[in-house]
Amino acid sequence: MAEKNKREMFSTGFAVFFATLGSAVGLGNIWKFPYLIGTNGGGAFLLVYLLCVILVGIPIMACEFYIGRKSRKNAVGAFKKLDAAKGWKTIGFMGTATAFLIAFFYSCVAGWVYSYVFKAIKGDFVGVTSSTASTKFMSTLVGPLSPIVWQFIVLGIVSIILIAGVKNGIERITKTLMPVLFILIIICAVRSLTLPGASQGLNFLFHVDFSQLTGPVILAALGLAFFKLSLGMGTMITYGSYFTTDNNMIATSAKVAISDSLISILAGIAIFPAVFSFGLKPSEGPGLLFMTIPLVFSKIPFGSILLVAFFFLSAIAATTALISMVQVPVAYFTEEKGMGRTKAVLFTTSIMMVVGILATLSAHPTSALANIHIIGERGFFDSFDYLSSNILLPIGGLLIAVYVGYFTKKEDFKLELSNQGTLNNALVLDVIYVFIKFVSPFLLIIVFLNSIGIFKF
Ligand code: PHE
Repeated sequence: MAEKNKREMFSTGFAVFFATLGSAVGLGNIWKFPYLIGTNGGGAFLLVYLLCVILVGIPIMACEFYIGRKSRKNAVGAFKKLDAAKGWKTIGFMGTATAFLIAFFYSCVAGWVYSYVFKAIKGDFVGVTSSTASTKFMSTLVGPLSPIVWQFIVLGIVSIILIAGVKNGIERITKTLMPVLFILIIICAVRSLTLPGASQGLNFLFHVDFSQLTGPVILAALGLAFFKLSLGMGTMITYGSYFTTDNNMIATSAKVAISDSLISILAGIAIFPAVFSFGLKPSEGPGLLFMTIPLVFSKIPFGSILLVAFFFLSAIAATTALISMVQVPVAYFTEEKGMGRTKAVLFTTSIMMVVGILATLSAHPTSALANIHIIGERGFFDSFDYLSSNILLPIGGLLIAVYVGYFTKKEDFKLELSNQGTLNNALVLDVIYVFIKFVSPFLLIIVFLNSIGIFKF
């Protein structure tokens, strides 16, 4: 094959880990996780979430890596390459569609984060109080023009990085910036812990009150686990297809899931003490991050610099996650439809920009399109979110587990995940396989049946 047609790959195990973590860590940790904990009753939600990560997240991530690396193809082409029956390609098509749905609202929130970097640099948050923090957030959202401009800037930057390619774009950016993000979030958490009344926040985050556990809460935790680990839509199939042949993919799944959960918990520790200390409500909803973090850094030495740094790194996290989302359709269009990389990137991000406007104009009850209801009472923004996280990702995950558990040879699975027998991990593989075949799919089915009211618990 000519050199220019050679498929790109990540260059080292280090790069594999950071790129995958770059996909997992994003607005899910810093924005979604804290506000979902806040609206779903604290510690109990955290506990179910962590169980979902272990019982469902890690096994399904391993399945996606298996499909990706064995086929070395995009989410649709992978199933063809593995000689799966025709219908399995649906997973790839569904995943590609889900990538668009998520990107519509994700790029909007990423736009808010970018605008906060800019506002923090301008010194807009000097002397901020809890009430001015919410007014500032409101004005960021309602726009109407500025949030759209920020959303376009985000997607523009994502396009530039993706046009640079897997190695020069994705790998370079994630490898440099993920470690910095980790350090910054620790600083933030430590600062928040020193606020007066911090223990109330910690108590909310870690105290498990089982009476809070209802079917919808469990479904939300499961949906969050998929969203957080970028599972169920072919992102990890696509990234797996760029993995090095000697990567221990089970270890990578576990390391990514643990690091990601740790970052989420640190974000919770950064946010909840501040919520209680400044008299905000934990159930504030999607604005939680934007209202608390400026307060956390107000009134401390170097506070404004740390604030800029925090939002800058959140912007990075959002961007690297978005990159992995956009790469799913881009890999499909280039490999299956023969488009050039630049054209595929621009085509994908243009659609995201145009339809993404609907999300941006419906993000707040006073936004221009807020009164158009799509799913139940939900507007565009919430419907894109609900449909993708709570429905399509778990269904995608279920199909992936069923495909690997029941329609692939166990030997093939074991051979690929032991790097053709060179890793000494037969026992771990047997355990993961049992999870894939019996535990994950059944949990997914039970949670679904419950959410549509067939099976009550
Ligand atoms: N995991 C990312 C986050 O937590 C979101 C994401 C979902 C990225 C699906 C890619 C695919 O922010």
